[in-house]
Amino acid sequence: MATWHQAMKVGIEVVDEDHRQLFALIQEFNAAADSHGGEVDRPKMTDVLARLQSYVTEHFEREETAQLEAGYDGYEENKRQHDELTHTLAVFTEKFHSGGPGEIKADTAKLRTFLGVWLSQHILKTDVKMRGRILPWAG
Ligand SMILES: [Fe+2]
Repeated sequence: MATWHQAMKVGIEVVDEDHRQLFALIQEFNAAADSHGGEVDRPKMTDVLARLQSYVTEHFEREETAQLEAGYDGYEENKRQHDELTHTLAVFTEKFHSGGPGEIKADTAKLRTFLGVWLSQHILKTDVKMRGRILPWAG
């Protein structure tokens, strides 16, 4: 199960706290995906998705702003990955609101695995490169 751990520490408190919150939201996503004996709980998922999307948007903005202010050279790669996840979440949300139960169950199962892997890998391979490079209050 994907959770935040020490190796993911970027050293910017607001970013690390965001990452912990994102894992907590993914746990909520997993819970909504699994309610009622393995069926997706639609109202719960609608709520989690809205909160996940808005937190992801806020978090990406915080990271990107800190990187731009610091003139960080990893900005482009980081932004590209952020845009991909934003797109994936938007496509899923669209399918979730328009699809039938079978389709929703299959898509949710795929996104569930994807989200945990994406966040872990993005933090471990991309975000940790900020460690020691950006001090938000120094910009
Ligand atoms: Fe990032």
